[in-house]
Amino acid sequence: MDEHAAGPAPGLRDAMAGLVPLPGRLRPWQVETLDHVGLAELLTAHGSPVNLIDPEPLTANAAALVAAGAELGVTVRICFARKANKALALVDQAAAAGHGIDVSSDDELAQVLARGVEPEKVILTAAVKPARVLDRAIRAGVAISVDSADELAAIRACAAANGIFARIAPRVAPDLPHRPLSRFGLPVGEVRGLLTDPGAHVEVVGLHVHLDGYDIGDRVVMLHRMLDLVEQTGATLRFVDLGGGIPIRYLDDPAPWQEFWQAHRAGLLGDGPEQTWRNKGLGLAVHGGQIHGAPAVYPAWQETIVGDWLRQILDGTPAGGAGESAAVRLRRLGLALQLEPGRALLEGCGLTAARVEARKQLADGSWLAVLAMNRTQCRSAADDFLVDPILLPNPDPAADRSPAAEGFLVGAYCIEAELITLRRMRFPRGLAVGDIVVFVNTAGYLMHIVESASHQMPLARNLIRVGAGWQLDPLDGLPDR
Ligand SMILES: Cc1ncc(COP(=O)(O)O)c(C=O)c1O
Repeated sequence: MDEHAAGPAPGLRDAMAGLVPLPGRLRPWQVETLDHVGLAELLTAHGSPVNLIDPEPLTANAAALVAAGAELGVTVRICFARKANKALALVDQAAAAGHGIDVSSDDELAQVLARGVEPEKVILTAAVKPARVLDRAIRAGVAISVDSADELAAIRACAAANGIFARIAPRVAPDLPHRPLSRFGLPVGEVRGLLTDPGAHVEVVGLHVHLDGYDIGDRVVMLHRMLDLVEQTGATLRFVDLGGGIPIRYLDDPAPWQEFWQAHRAGLLGDGPEQTWRNKGLGLAVHGGQIHGAPAVYPAWQETIVGDWLRQILDGTPAGGAGESAAVRLRRLGLALQLEPGRALLEGCGLTAARVEARKQLADGSWLAVLAMNRTQCRSAADDFLVDPILLPNPDPAADRSPAAEGFLVGAYCIEAELITLRRMRFPRGLAVGDIVVFVNTAGYLMHIVESASHQMPLARNLIRVGAGWQLDPLDGLPDR
């Protein structure tokens, strides 16, 4: 438990938990917001589900990374990866704290520039960069992460047409033999060539790497790889950028996480109660009485996070042995380390609330809580989000409550596998229409990365905590959002 955690909230988690409870971290503002009357009003006014965002924790989350660098004498530049959440209030919060923004589309870039973020603090890392976004970035002077020779040719052509230089940060392909092939980045040799001779209409201002996963060792290697390139070529750059993927925790304690996986494995092998709908594996599968595979979910508890994780990277030497650490080399070369955290900046910034519209009991006795939302409105690219939602029972004494029950949360799509979370839940106080289910810590990816208006159901509204009240995020006022 850290200074930001709200501490145990007696009673709050009593009405619902997984068979093995996975109680999520809660900040004080989140505990305050978990009030049925207030949330029911918001759901009536804005529809279900509704996303609730407090941008404030972003500032301290970013400061923790800057401080970890400063301890080792390294200047850390933060560019908030807005793909993790589209709310403009978060862009404003990051900018007000002096940070930059990592953008992945033309609309993201246009909005960020319109909010007054200095172009020098913006990086365009979009995986696809049509002419329109290149033109906007180049004319504004925004650094562009370059991912292919074709992209570079388009950048040169656009800069030439505008009669200016484009600022680029070539993305280095991770050439780590133990890792699966990456679709991203340019071969190291091509990047070296660009540093030695950038060619027409481009200025190389930085180097860029982003690795999926959270591995410290791989990042140490790739950071040193970038520093090698700078030293070998004598290039004068402003930054080397290590992308995002800064790990966080959704759970305060490791024990529930370990217990859940133990119980899930037992359930898959038929040695204990099934933890998931139709015994879904969450990345694991049973073949010949053995469990294979790896969890396909975010590690809700992990040992090394945020500042400790960054310090270990900066302290790391290339082969893990003698030699200068990355921190020493960055200092010697006068280079800033740029990071593009998305999820890590949004820890503690979000809640998503939905209304129970109906309940039903299945032939096996399980109950379903039918929520006014769909799976894409609280889901990342992972198989599931393994943190217990909180059930706020309908306080109306006339509400018809089921008996204490076990079962699942389901949503709107016409698909058998359409569950909001695959985990089997316990409802010790039963279920009633008008109960509210609140998903905690959803600001990082859970709200928007895969959200869909399928079935022509409107996208969830995004409300920003302002003082004691809530205001629609400015993005929700824009057309087609
Ligand atoms: C290039 C790049 N930068 C930053 C991020 C943000 O990663 P995270 O939210 O895990 O910090 C991503 C995520 O996919 C990315 O692709």
